[in-house]
Amino acid sequence: MKVDYPMILINFKTYRESLGQKGLELARAAERVSKDTGVCIAVAPQTPDLFRIASSVGIPVFSQHADPEEPGAHTGSLTLDSLKEAGVSGTILNHSERRLRLDIIEETLRRSSSLGLINCVCANTPLAGRALASFGPDMVAIEPPELIGSGVSVSKARPEIVSDAVRLIKEVTIGIHVLCGAGITSGDDVSAAIRLGAEGVLVASGIVKASNPVKALTNLAEHCVQH
Ligand code: G3P
Repeated sequence: MKVDYPMILINFKTYRESLGQKGLELARAAERVSKDTGVCIAVAPQTPDLFRIASSVGIPVFSQHADPEEPGAHTGSLTLDSLKEAGVSGTILNHSERRLRLDIIEETLRRSSSLGLINCVCANTPLAGRALASFGPDMVAIEPPELIGSGVSVSKARPEIVSDAVRLIKEVTIGIHVLCGAGITSGDDVSAAIRLGAEGVLVASGIVKASNPVKALTNLAEHCVQH
């Protein structure tokens, strides 16, 4: 399944609020908001829930991580082939909470592209984003680790991080899509991100832990389309 921009990618992380049945309900809520607003919303559920959620919703489903190994004797590896077989559309790589070595990122990106999976590689700084862009991912998500989970959005508190990342990454390849994340909770955070040149947001706690995820997500989505 393809994505379009601007997009919202919801990282379920390993929160209790996104575990099992609750994760499925959250994915269904995201599907509903996507249909109602026309905004592309993708979800990155907890790994054991990927197959069930990908089989149950009509929006793109991403994994939160993947390993580069090919099918074979690699006990415990999360192979790209198994993700594809599970109906997953793409993968997040190198999240701040799951950092990877550069050579592993390069190899995993190469394999995911060859399997037709979409990839979103995370970078903690604009310069890291530029370096990772040279591997040719579909998306780079810029996320300053100190703002992750803070409720203080990167797009409002550190706008230069977003604009620098957009400039540096587009200098490498204009076609790479730049998302930003960390502390996104409100529609204003999304508007600010898009004004700075981002083509979407990566969000976790602001939706997963919201008392009313549909309301919170609708607010974000409505601000994606106002630009
Ligand atoms: O992957 C998204 C993430 O790291 C941002 O987390 O909780 O600040 O939206 P949060």
